[in-house]
Amino acid sequence: MDSPHKPNSLSTNLFFLFLLLSTNLLTLFLASTFYSSCSINPLTAAPATLTTTQTSSTNSGSATDGPDSHSDTSQTILDLPSEFLAFTSGKLLPFGFNTNFDSDTIYPPVGRACTLFPNELLRYMTYKVNGSCPDDGLLAQKLLLKGCEPLPSRRCRPAAQPDYEEPYPLPTSLWTTPPNSSVVWTAYTCKDYSCLINRYRTQKGFDDCKDCFDLEGREKTRWAAKQSNGGGGEGLDFTIDEVLATKKAGTIRIGLDLGGGVATFAVRMTERNITIVTTSMNLNGPFNNFIASRGIVPLYISISQRLPFFDNTLDIVHSMHVLSNWIPTTLLHFLMFDIYRVLRPGGLFWLDHFFCVGEQLEEVYGPLVESIGFNKLKWTVGRKLDRGPELREMYLSALLEKPLKNSW
Ligand SMILES: *[C@@H]1O[C@H](CO)[C@@H](O)[C@H](O)[C@H]1NC(C)=O
Ligand SMILES: *[C@@H]1O[C@H](CO)[C@@H](O)[C@H](O)[C@H]1NC(C)=O
Ligand SMILES: *[C@@H]1O[C@H](CO)[C@@H](O)[C@H](O)[C@H]1NC(C)=O
Repeated sequence: MDSPHKPNSLSTNLFFLFLLLSTNLLTLFLASTFYSSCSINPLTAAPATLTTTQTSSTNSGSATDGPDSHSDTSQTILDLPSEFLAFTSGKLLPFGFNTNFDSDTIYPPVGRACTLFPNELLRYMTYKVNGSCPDDGLLAQKLLLKGCEPLPSRRCRPAAQPDYEEPYPLPTSLWTTPPNSSVVWTAYTCKDYSCLINRYRTQKGFDDCKDCFDLEGREKTRWAAKQSNGGGGEGLDFTIDEVLATKKAGTIRIGLDLGGGVATFAVRMTERNITIVTTSMNLNGPFNNFIASRGIVPLYISISQRLPFFDNTLDIVHSMHVLSNWIPTTLLHFLMFDIYRVLRPGGLFWLDHFFCVGEQLEEVYGPLVESIGFNKLKWTVGRKLDRGPELREMYLSALLEKPLKNSW
C-alpha cells in the first residue's frame, strides 16, 4: 500500500511545482508581451519580479526584464519576502480571458507602500505556510497605518485564546463587557478588560478613547442625552434622535461610523433597527474584538483607505474625534469627497466634534468642509476646554446633507 502511494504524491508535488513555474513564466510572458501598458503601475512590478527571482536560477534570460527599468529599487524588490511575492503575483484565471475584468489575470492588491518598508514586510510575511501565524498584531497594524493597506494575505492561522468563550447573545451582548478570553492580549498594555475599564482613573497620558471601555460610564449616555460634563459648548452634542428627526422616519437604515471607538454609536443605532458598520484600529486596546463581542460589525481599515462602499449607497456617515487636524489636509480633502461619494443623495454626514487649534477652523477646516458641497443642517462651533483654555482648541460639530440633486 505504501509504495504506490509515495510516487503518486511525489508526482502530484512535481505537477504543482510545474504548474507554479509555468504559471509564473506565462504571466511574465503575457505581462511583458500584451500588457506592457500595465507595467507603469507600481503594483505590477512585484509579480514581474516574482518571476524574475523565482526563475533566475534556472532561467537567466528573464532577469534582463526587471533591473533596467527599476534599477534604483531592484535591491529592495529582490529583498521582498517570497510569501509576499506569492500573494501579489499575477494569477491567471482558470477559464481564461474574462470580459468583466477585461483581462485573464488577477493581481491580488496590497497597499502601494508595502514595499517601502522591506524590513517590517519581511517580518510580517515570514511564517510557516499552513502553520500558526506569528503573534504580531502590533507590527501588522504599524505596517498598515504607514500605508501598507490592505495588508497582504497570509497562509497561516492566527492564534485565539485557548479558553475562548462564545459571545453573549443579543441583546445582552450590546451592553455587557465581554469575557477576557475573547482577546489575545499580547499587543496591549492592559491584559484584561478590568484594566481597560479602569485605565482612565489609573493611567496618566493619552490613550485613544481612554474611558470608553467602561460601559457603565460616559458611554451610557453618549448620543442619548445632552452631555453636561464640560467637553465644550452644549450645542456640540447632537443626540441621535434629534439627528434622525431631520429625515423622514425610517429612511436612515444603513451607514458607517468612522473611527467609532467601541461602537456605542452603532449599538444605539442597532437599538433603533439601523445597521452601522464601525471602523476602528486597535490602538492600545482590542477595539475590534470588543466591537464584535458587542454584536456590531467592526471594519479594520484606516482613514487613509478609499471607503469600501459603492457610490451613492449609505444613508449616514458619522465620525467623532477621529477626523481632526492630525490628518494631513490633502488627505482630509480626499476623505471628505469619499464620504460624499458613498452617501446616497439625501444622506447625512454627521461630523461630530472635529477639533483643531485657534484660527485653523476659520482659515482651513471650515472652508474645506464647506467646499465639498453638502447642505448645512446644523453647524456648531465651540471651544474645547478639556486640556485647558490656553491651548485655544476648537470643536466643530456639523450635520451635513448630501443634496438630493447633485448630478453632473
Ligand atoms: C495543514 O494544517 C492542518 C491543520 O494543522 C493539517 O490538518 C493539514 O494536514 C496540513 N496540511 C498540510 C498539507 O500540511
Ligand atoms: C477579567 O479579568 C479580571 C482580572 O483577572 C477579573 O477581575 C475580571 O472579573 C475578568 N472579567 C471577566 C468578564 O471575566
Ligand atoms: C425593530 O424591529 C423589530 C422587529 O421588526 C420591532 O419589533 C421593533 O419595534 C423595532 N424597534 C424600533 C425601535 O423600531
